[in-house]
Amino acid sequence: MTTVKFATCSPYKQTKQQHHITDFKHKEFLVGSGQDKHVKTYNKEVPEDLKVINVALFALGRAGSIHLTNVMKNSRLNIKYLVESDRGKLERVQKEWRLPDSVLLSPHQDQKVFSDPSVHGIIIATPTYLHKDLVTRGLKAKKAVFCEKPIADDLEDTRMCYQLAKEMNQPLLCAFNRRFDPSFSQLRRKVQDGEVGQVHLVKTVARDSPVPSIEYIKVSGGIFHDCAVHDIDLVCWVLGEYPTHVFASAFAFIPEIAAVNDHDTVGFTMKFASGTISMTDISRNAVYGYDQRLEVFGPKGMVSCSNERPYPLVTSTVHGQSEPPLLYSFPSRYYQSYINELDHFCDVIQGLSDLSIPGDNTLKITRIASALAESAATGQMVEIMY
Ligand SMILES: NC(=O)c1ccc[n+]([C@@H]2O[C@H](COP(=O)([O-])OP(=O)(O)OC[C@H]3O[C@@H](n4cnc5c(N)ncnc54)[C@H](O)[C@@H]3O)[C@@H](O)[C@H]2O)c1
Repeated sequence: MTTVKFATCSPYKQTKQQHHITDFKHKEFLVGSGQDKHVKTYNKEVPEDLKVINVALFALGRAGSIHLTNVMKNSRLNIKYLVESDRGKLERVQKEWRLPDSVLLSPHQDQKVFSDPSVHGIIIATPTYLHKDLVTRGLKAKKAVFCEKPIADDLEDTRMCYQLAKEMNQPLLCAFNRRFDPSFSQLRRKVQDGEVGQVHLVKTVARDSPVPSIEYIKVSGGIFHDCAVHDIDLVCWVLGEYPTHVFASAFAFIPEIAAVNDHDTVGFTMKFASGTISMTDISRNAVYGYDQRLEVFGPKGMVSCSNERPYPLVTSTVHGQSEPPLLYSFPSRYYQSYINELDHFCDVIQGLSDLSIPGDNTLKITRIASALAESAATGQMVEIMY
């Protein structure tokens, strides 16, 4: 036997094997079994009154339902209030999570949230046009604020919200959840460590599945502020740089989307002072699943994140090979990112971490999204001065 020379001693005689740093699910297992001190070293004590964080969640739509599940599963969080205009939704989650009646509020009762001193933070997942009002009321009541993107409808209101956060000395977290995705975080680390060298090209693909309802699109703020902001933020975060020039083309192939003056298909490029060029394509309707890709290319190579599937099953027959379809939509593809961003909000409230998405960043992303919308409308490249 030629390989006998490779025989090793018993694993019981070797150093105990440890999980790899990338195995975040094993870390979750450790945290859940009370062994978190090995994985979370903060060197800080959490004040007694912040050991359990009381939160109020606004809205139980697609985004709010994700956050509710994650709040309920997070041992640091206690749901104090749920505010939702659809009574049926409130009653369904009350049954599911066995919540007391005192938790459920209609929007006209929401002052209870702001006048309750035991509420540490609020999570806003209402339609976008309601964000600014809730953000400002939350900050004025001295609550930490987690707000779904975008923070407000336009740049001026967004700036005002961050100014208020500064005055009230409260964190305002814009939920750019993709930053908290484990694969994108690893990709960014590799880029920042120089594994591909100076970055020449970045490509992202963001094709939605399923197509959102027209009711949602009508109040979404438009595809640039609703969808493109995620890709803009992702690219700038990976590069650590903001673009100087942007160009976009957009079209509505779906008549119902054209009828509400929005687009369902966008292609855009961004040019950076360092020379890097980024390219993104966005669609509201990918019939084969939620298509999310990221690729960074440089003189030393390429690092990329491809799509995820529910499980790694490959069936091979005379007709070829097949796999299960891509994950259906954002709740499954970005499952872990939503858990991680909420955990980050807890870290910030408990004083264990600084806010990882500063206001200045969100303002720049809003400016870039507006510049892209302008480019699509005029057909011109737009220069951005910060
Ligand atoms: N980060 C992400 O991945 C992501 C994904 C989807 C949506 N979003 C953002 O989340 C927000 C909500 O989007 P969605 O897809 O969940 O919308 P949605 O239409 O599915 O849900 C909106 C919910 O808000 C409720 N509502 C309306 N008025 C209310 C009020 N005054 N008070 C409380 N609840 C009220 C509605 O009844 C509905 O349940 C948007 O700002 C969107 O940009 C973010």
